[in-house]
Amino acid sequence: MDGIREMGLRNVASQCSISESDDYDLSKLLDKPKLNIKREKSFDERSLSELSIGLSRGGLEVYETMYSPGGRSGFGTPASSARNSFEPHPMVAEAWDALRRSLVSFRGQPVGTVAAQDHSEEALNYDQVFVRDFVPSALAFLMNGEPDIVKNFLLKTLHLQGWEKRIDRFKLGEGVMPASFKVLHDPIRQTDSVVADFGESAIGRVAPVDSGFWWIILLRAYTKSTGDLSLAETPDCQKGMRLILSLCLSEGFDTFPTLLCADGCSMIDRRMGIYGYPIEIQSLFFMALRCALTLLKHDTEGKEFVERITKRLHALSYHMRSYFWLDFQQLNDIYRYKTEEYSHTAVNKFNVIPDSIPEWVFDFMPNRGGYFIGNVSPARMDFRWFALGNLVAILCSLATPEQSMAIMDLLESRWEELVGEMPQKICYPAIESHDWRITTGCDPKNTRWSYHNGGSWPVLLWLLTAACIKTGRPQIARRAIDLAESRLLKDSWPEYYDGKNGRYIGKQARKFQTWSIAGYLVAKMLLEDPSHVGMISLEEDKQMKPLIKRSSSWTC
Ligand code: GLC
Repeated sequence: MDGIREMGLRNVASQCSISESDDYDLSKLLDKPKLNIKREKSFDERSLSELSIGLSRGGLEVYETMYSPGGRSGFGTPASSARNSFEPHPMVAEAWDALRRSLVSFRGQPVGTVAAQDHSEEALNYDQVFVRDFVPSALAFLMNGEPDIVKNFLLKTLHLQGWEKRIDRFKLGEGVMPASFKVLHDPIRQTDSVVADFGESAIGRVAPVDSGFWWIILLRAYTKSTGDLSLAETPDCQKGMRLILSLCLSEGFDTFPTLLCADGCSMIDRRMGIYGYPIEIQSLFFMALRCALTLLKHDTEGKEFVERITKRLHALSYHMRSYFWLDFQQLNDIYRYKTEEYSHTAVNKFNVIPDSIPEWVFDFMPNRGGYFIGNVSPARMDFRWFALGNLVAILCSLATPEQSMAIMDLLESRWEELVGEMPQKICYPAIESHDWRITTGCDPKNTRWSYHNGGSWPVLLWLLTAACIKTGRPQIARRAIDLAESRLLKDSWPEYYDGKNGRYIGKQARKFQTWSIAGYLVAKMLLEDPSHVGMISLEEDKQMKPLIKRSSSWTC
């Protein structure tokens, strides 16, 4: 069955809305004249207060941003470069060509992009459309005024969500979104069919927890960019969102509002010691909840979710900002922690033993700057830096404005370690020797400073650029893009680089990796037209500020 045709989209009356407060006032950040373009009242103009969930807009000034729907340029001509007053980098045209070559069609309609087009290596599943990998491709198409492929992708994956999913004799949750899918063309019968992977074929049988979150985030990006509410409002999309939310908002034995996950549940899809409450998932969870809040209708079913989301966001932001945040002051406090404290008066709530703080973090921590650490659970703080989780935390305002600035300060002062010669490190530092053996299970692909273990991933450039724009520090992005431009094309768009400084093309890196290509394009388009950042950024919600002050370096 073809989800796209059978879905029967209807144009229902607009009932869901996007908060005005998630419109971003870039003019303030970038010191440019305010963008004040009048538009049709649609998606963005409806305030959160209309949703009657008790969140006030807190007197936020709202300025229009310049999202313009399709029709800006002909197919094959990037609108961004057509609009340029300066010559685009020659890499941009090459990147568009490569991105278009990666397109996958289903019954004549483009529905996604393959992960990589490297014919010199065994394809494994790199010839599939990965949900997480498609996100930068989708943003590139949206920014270029080509939303149809994004819509097709959202509907195709939504259709796949409806499949019955099993691993051996175990039935997976209804809301689970696939990690990837593949279109099979039968040239004789002239038919197309789809196979999907929900973790049952993936190496290690890892669960794609991030897929559902990226799906919701992309649905908002599509809606925000096109102003077309009708897709998000279809009963199918509303149901798809509710099913994803049911998976992560269900009650259980949890004592924390964070989401408990197995190892390898996200971009790092191999054993890397991220089990528990990994920052990447918590940031995506937070962002997806905030996006869902703006997309859910206020019918009987939707309302119940809106209430649950609001409560969870409140608890989650408090927990993350209080316990995952690390800066010089906080590190010093942990270093002096007492242990074995009983009752709610405990300062060292998770009974973290100061001796477990790794040596490297004392030198690494600058006086100015901070970040969300990798993981927090009983007697465990994973002090590693993970780029994706921190950058997404900035974009969705899980980080307070002060924390966002501190993350950017850290990036600047630890540039060599976190960015090096190729933006940027997926995590820092690498795990080595005995730690590598017990943490990865002796994974030869994840040896120190390679792949997920401290490798450098060009795809992260778009997230870095978006975070730079949101925090008003585009010069950092420019520096990173310059680095990428010095090598990416010449090296045929590798998936990742190896080495402490990211100087070497990754040992097993695929070439023509689509998200390296699309990530570069998105970064370029964001810098050229910073108003695009509104698609993937949410303004701070004043209601979510923690009530108490835990550290002197950030205000509550
Ligand atoms: C690798 C990456 C994963 C990505 C996939 C396809 O498995 O770890 O994040 O989605 O390749 O590119």
